[in-house]
Amino acid sequence: MQIILGITGGVAAYKSAELARLLVNQGHRVRCILTEAGARFITPLTLTSLTGEPCYGANPDQGEWRASPNIEHIELARWADLVAVVPATANILGKAANGLASDLLSTLLLATRAPVLWAPAMNTGMWEHPAVQANLARLRSFGHAVVDPGEGVLACGEEGSGKLAEVASIAEAIQVHGTPKLRILSGRRVLITSGPTREDLDPVRTLTNRSTGAMGIELARALRDVGAKVQLVLGGDLAAPWGVETVRVRSAQQMLEACEARWADSDGLLAAAAVADQRPESPSSEKVKKGDGAETVVLVRTPDILARLSASRRQDQWVVGFAAESEQHLAHASAKLAKKGLDAVLVNDVQGGRGFGAQANTLTPVTASGPHPAIGPLSKDQLARAVVQWWAHQLELRPD
Ligand SMILES: Cc1cc2nc3c(=O)[nH]c(=O)nc-3n(C[C@H](O)[C@H](O)[C@H](O)COP(=O)(O)O)c2cc1C
Repeated sequence: MQIILGITGGVAAYKSAELARLLVNQGHRVRCILTEAGARFITPLTLTSLTGEPCYGANPDQGEWRASPNIEHIELARWADLVAVVPATANILGKAANGLASDLLSTLLLATRAPVLWAPAMNTGMWEHPAVQANLARLRSFGHAVVDPGEGVLACGEEGSGKLAEVASIAEAIQVHGTPKLRILSGRRVLITSGPTREDLDPVRTLTNRSTGAMGIELARALRDVGAKVQLVLGGDLAAPWGVETVRVRSAQQMLEACEARWADSDGLLAAAAVADQRPESPSSEKVKKGDGAETVVLVRTPDILARLSASRRQDQWVVGFAAESEQHLAHASAKLAKKGLDAVLVNDVQGGRGFGAQANTLTPVTASGPHPAIGPLSKDQLARAVVQWWAHQLELRPD
């Protein structure tokens, strides 16, 4: 994405440097525009060095409006896929809400047709003032997104709301607001299972597997970005993705219960969790003491969540499963598809530990018409986006 990052005159301006860096690391191009007040808090040199792009607006060397054969505010307005103002002062919110164009940033905000996102930061009294809230409501009515500030101790020493949202959350909101929506998935409720389940042997020991939940989390992000309403049922320890309703579970039974409570309200299921097939028959309530010789643990089957949800689905609901296979992966995926009555299985060849954690991965979709071309190898975030595009295309091909 090509992002214009507007930086206005608040103490939190120093955090925009971190945001610019994060966005560049995520593969975006970032051009910064400083207001005159913004330039008192952070320098064009810092921003240019971090982004590898020129810094526009208030600039000790070139001034607000640079002599250029291209009309800069129009050229930049056209260049942008998204304009984010971080931090946004009460002043810029008021100007933009009322169509004032007194400097490069405010003029560009009028000229651009790109999505606009605001991350305000200010003293609590200013934030709660009806004028600021009315301006924000007006900006929202233009279709602009607002990442609300959080609460905490502010630079002025007061404690309350007005603190700039976390930089990572702002970056996620930029991703959501700047991603084109997919008509077939927009507004659709999608249930995703992700991560390992844990089956306790006693209060200390547990049976689990090597899944981390990274793939399901990236699928949740990718679906969120194209406009789906995602509910994620998540095992493991990874952080829940921003903007996704997440339910944390531990055992297969808990995952089943969380899914069953949400399934009737969902349009589709992506079952990416690595659910334990067995659990200890009788977990001990006390820590089991070590014995001398061999020990036997009796395992019993856990519920088959995917089969249960698929069996109870309505005709308008779709079900996509994932499979991790170390041999004959396409044959096993076809068998799973038929046995559980799925619309698609995305199979992962995990021979030699491939596919777990942060590594790049490849998925091969299998549907009733047979195997499709493999997707990948790609990093998990790119793979998730490619899978969502592939599945949206399959949904479009389905008869109503
Ligand atoms: C030290 C200092 C800190 C400030 N912090 C904020 C702030 O966090 N939020 C805000 O809305 N205004 C803050 N202001 C006031 C703005 O800088 C002022 O309204 C300015 O005109 C904003 O101009 P701009 O919106 O063009 O950047 C601060 C001013 C000073 C001197």
